[in-house]
Amino acid sequence: MTAMNRQVLLASRPKGEVSEENFRIVETPVPAPGEGEVLVKNEWLSLDPYMRGRMNEAKSYAPSVAVGELMVGQTVGEVVESRASHFKPGDKVLTLLGWQLYGVAKARELTRIDASRAPASCYLGVLGMPGMTAWFGLREIGQPKAGETLIVSAASGAVGSVVGQLAKIEGCRTVGIAGGALKCNYVVNELGFDACVDHKGPDLAGRLRTACPKGIDIDFENVGGPILDAALPLMNVHSRIVLCGMIAEINASEPYGYRRLRAVLVSRIRMQGMIVFDWKDRYAEAVAGLSQHFAAGRLKHRESIVEGLDNAPRGLIALFKGENFGKQLVRLA
Ligand SMILES: NC(=O)c1ccc[n+]([C@@H]2O[C@H](COP(=O)([O-])OP(=O)(O)OC[C@H]3O[C@@H](n4cnc5c(N)ncnc54)[C@H](OP(=O)(O)O)[C@@H]3O)[C@@H](O)[C@H]2O)c1
Repeated sequence: MTAMNRQVLLASRPKGEVSEENFRIVETPVPAPGEGEVLVKNEWLSLDPYMRGRMNEAKSYAPSVAVGELMVGQTVGEVVESRASHFKPGDKVLTLLGWQLYGVAKARELTRIDASRAPASCYLGVLGMPGMTAWFGLREIGQPKAGETLIVSAASGAVGSVVGQLAKIEGCRTVGIAGGALKCNYVVNELGFDACVDHKGPDLAGRLRTACPKGIDIDFENVGGPILDAALPLMNVHSRIVLCGMIAEINASEPYGYRRLRAVLVSRIRMQGMIVFDWKDRYAEAVAGLSQHFAAGRLKHRESIVEGLDNAPRGLIALFKGENFGKQLVRLA
């Protein structure tokens, strides 16, 4: 019997919040690799906030997924058949094969991973794209110095958890912002942040001020909206904002109206957007640095796992409701 592949396609573009109706699951034959190509059986699929943007038609930093096409995404999998000289069956690889059980990739599109150094799923999280986002955003734009105060939103998540731990290693006072007591307790007691503010409670601005008695030198901004507005008046002169993500606006039909932007002028804040691809030539440097901290036990991480490809839509939807607790993954095998 021929083995069948399973794929999740974009069925329609969401209007506002993503729903399961925006996806369609299909079965197709497992493809055969051509010369210079490799067949990979995916084991883990990464779910990331950027996927919401790819479901829109609007112009962004990367092309949209067309309706009827396979959903994009990174996976970690195992080579099952190779027609490329430098890969063999059994090799573990990082791929861009998207939401499917099997896929064929050109050898140059794959990155070999060392699954003896860390569990394979880590290459989608703490040692993968989110970890590298934290690494470059913090070092290159945030430029932390010992004694400074850093805040980071979505602090228990894939990017935020790494940002806070790296900032702590640099000697910063590190304050997280997260949704709910459970996540805040984890951020302080497990990840070692100095404080964490629950953005779901009342008077976010007041509690953030109390948590940052010397003001804020770096805001690693993962959320935007009311969280960025609460932080702006607390930013110190010549402070930095690393504008990494604006997940609070991701499903909104209208942009959020920022009310506190005058602080950028008054406090001469340097606010810079970032996309991790800008450092693609230096990914190896980040993986080496993150791996060193990971091996030494200085980078803790947590994963939020949904089981099976068919549940991937549910896993993506969870990200925008804060229902994930750590790096959101789908276990495929
Ligand atoms: N620029 C880049 O190159 C780059 C690369 C990777 C990621 N990012 C961005 O970094 C951010 C974090 O990504 P991640 O992969 O690490 O995800 P994550 O933090 O693991 O998960 C998303 C978290 O965002 C928070 N959230 C969602 N909707 C929210 C809302 N309306 N208001 C407040 N908080 C909300 C929730 O945490 P709480 O429950 O704690 O609120 C949720 O758990 C995202 O904005 C993403 O787009 C940017």
